[in-house]
Amino acid sequence: MKVLVTGGAGYIGSHTVRELVERGNEVVILDSLELGYRQALEALGVSDKLVVGDTSDGALLDRIFQEHKPDAVIHFAAYKNAGESMENPSKYFSNNFSATISLLDAMVRNQVKYIVFSSSCAIFGNVQQLPVNEENNLPNPESPYGESKLLVEKALKWYDVAYSLKSVSLRYFNVAGSALDTKIGEDWSVSLNLIPVTLKAALGVTEAIKVFGTDYPTRDGTCIRDYIHVVDLAIAHLYALDYLLKTSQSTAYNLGTGDGSTVKEVIDAAKSISGVDFKVIEVPRRPGDPAAIWADSSKAERELGWKAQYNLDDMVRSAYNWHKSHLQGWKS
Ligand SMILES: NC(=O)c1ccc[n+]([C@@H]2O[C@H](COP(=O)([O-])OP(=O)(O)OC[C@H]3O[C@@H](n4cnc5c(N)ncnc54)[C@H](O)[C@@H]3O)[C@@H](O)[C@H]2O)c1
Repeated sequence: MKVLVTGGAGYIGSHTVRELVERGNEVVILDSLELGYRQALEALGVSDKLVVGDTSDGALLDRIFQEHKPDAVIHFAAYKNAGESMENPSKYFSNNFSATISLLDAMVRNQVKYIVFSSSCAIFGNVQQLPVNEENNLPNPESPYGESKLLVEKALKWYDVAYSLKSVSLRYFNVAGSALDTKIGEDWSVSLNLIPVTLKAALGVTEAIKVFGTDYPTRDGTCIRDYIHVVDLAIAHLYALDYLLKTSQSTAYNLGTGDGSTVKEVIDAAKSISGVDFKVIEVPRRPGDPAAIWADSSKAERELGWKAQYNLDDMVRSAYNWHKSHLQGWKS
């Protein structure tokens, strides 16, 4: 199969490109390189598959579809900083929503029928019921970022009705880790996620880590999140493509391990794997942080045959090994 991967030079995109290629698929990658890295594609030996450009560029998309004739699209290209989206919603609606509409329109023009879309648990906002399955909480985003993802999911529903464009939306929970052989990983110069931030302290890049809130109603007072290994997630995209081609049914899945970890548990794992007892500073809660959220991924297990294989230690260890050898990210 030939797949157009938008955002394929980014963190999750590059891990997915790797799984696609290693399983015998062809890829063409569209990335603006604003937040992605040619070096990641060079490390994988696929930099010749990269087209540098923007998903908002309809003429470029037409050229790519006509020249490469992909069977399907995996759409990662987007901004992902929920905090930034609160201050600059326009940036998020424009890139995450409008540019995605430009991509969908180009797919319709060029009769490409299948898309796997990077959605997010951010579409749910503060949830009422745990674990979060696809039915038990009404989406209620707390940020323009989450809203932009929900809007795309809604648009996909209507593009199926009107144009028979078939989609799988994958709602990732907290993505972490890196390739087990450290060939590729996350560039932490822009990452605000807990595991890279914790490992910065473990590797002496920062002096300490702050824990926001230790008085939540959880087992140790810190927030609970569902961390999913980037390799597990990358593989889920291949299963989603298979499902689309086999069933021609549009649907959505929540993807996590189903096993939430507290902030303190992440910090303990980082201390034990690095062997460094770095400084931890406890500060008050941040507004807007829900106490706990984790996924019920049994629908993906039932329908796709997908289940996360890696646990928190695997994520922290692979991320630690990657960051240790790439202290300056892809600039190392
Ligand atoms: N990382 C997470 O924890 C997480 C969680 C939930 C959802 N997601 C979603 O997964 C997707 C990938 O996330 P990531 O962590 O790999 O982010 P990333 O920033 O590493 O990758 C995104 C890539 O898309 C490219 N890009 C952005 N807008 C573009 C455009 N208009 N045209 C072409 N290229 C463009 C960037 O240059 C970058 O390479 C995003 O859609 C994000 O919202 C990520």
